[in-house]
Amino acid sequence: MAGELVGMPTETVYGLAAIVDNPVAISNVYAVKQRPLFDPLIAHVARGEARLGSPFERALELVDISGFQSASIDLLTLLASRFWPGPLTMVLPRAPGVNDLVTAGLTTIAVRMPAHPTAERLIDATGRPLVAPSANRFGRISPTSAQAVIDEIGDRIEYVLDGGVCSIGVESTVIAVEADGTVRLLRPGGVPTEEIAHVVGRIGPRGARIEAPGQTPSHYAPRAPILLVDGPLAALQLDPRGTIALLVARGPLPPVVEALSSAGHQVVAARVLSSEGDEREAARNLFAALRDLDAAAPDWIIAEAWPSPTGLGAAIRDRLARASAPR
Ligand code: TXA
Ligand code: MG
Repeated sequence: MAGELVGMPTETVYGLAAIVDNPVAISNVYAVKQRPLFDPLIAHVARGEARLGSPFERALELVDISGFQSASIDLLTLLASRFWPGPLTMVLPRAPGVNDLVTAGLTTIAVRMPAHPTAERLIDATGRPLVAPSANRFGRISPTSAQAVIDEIGDRIEYVLDGGVCSIGVESTVIAVEADGTVRLLRPGGVPTEEIAHVVGRIGPRGARIEAPGQTPSHYAPRAPILLVDGPLAALQLDPRGTIALLVARGPLPPVVEALSSAGHQVVAARVLSSEGDEREAARNLFAALRDLDAAAPDWIIAEAWPSPTGLGAAIRDRLARASAPR
């Protein structure tokens, strides 16, 4: 592979894939995304056709866990067998051979095993792990369909593999696991934190310092500014100003549109995350809904915060908070 990139479907969001030991291709990933070089990438591994051994064995060439206590190694094996393939990324000390471009010079590397047949086949076909950040320009909305990848960066890459709409819809949960078995949450995502806590016991917060810019406050941003509202949009008290697009968390959409229209607002588009209030459906719809609303070119997007912070609700709330953060 001569440095070309492939839009790759995963169960979370589409990635922009390059072979882990092809520095030309990896530089292209940063260039295409306009991503700062200090923001490290996730390496994706596959189980392989034989499906022998523990899934964690596939990550061993990328990590250096020689300093880990044996109970911590057991924990890694357990986490991988429970959550891989699937939307869990583990940040671990990196192996010496890993290219600095992958880790942005950090002493750690992020690894995951995606659960999408097309991603698995692509990794198997290249025979190497693939780095793949979400296939959007830096700071913008992650793509959850092949068309969204084409809309974002279609003019800059040769290939997009169409694997349908992503079944999870938000990125992987990122945790750091340390030599003594301490686990910290770096990014809420497709695996609910409660499920990880069930396996590891306690999960610590990520700590105050920004360890990687993917954790900066502003991210996932549409072109239109977003106003995030806690509580039902129908009850919104706001002077009408310009055109608005509505992102409703749950319940039927028409009454909300009617209430705001009769209050004098000019509603140009509206989407609901899940009419039944189902968090899996809401996560799956989130980024596509933001794209659709943005496409209507409103002056503002007014978004209702997802009401529950548990399960996938944590990831939905996190993405909406970042999408509406000051830029
Ligand atoms: O679901 C996903 O994880 C998707 C799909 C394509 O696999 N990928 C994805 O990649 O979301 P990206 O690059 O958009 O986000 C990677 C996140 C960033 O927040 C980055 O800062 C963090 O992982 N990260 C990567 N390596 C890290 C490291 N060594 N230490 C701490 N954070 C790291
Ligand atoms: Mg991203």
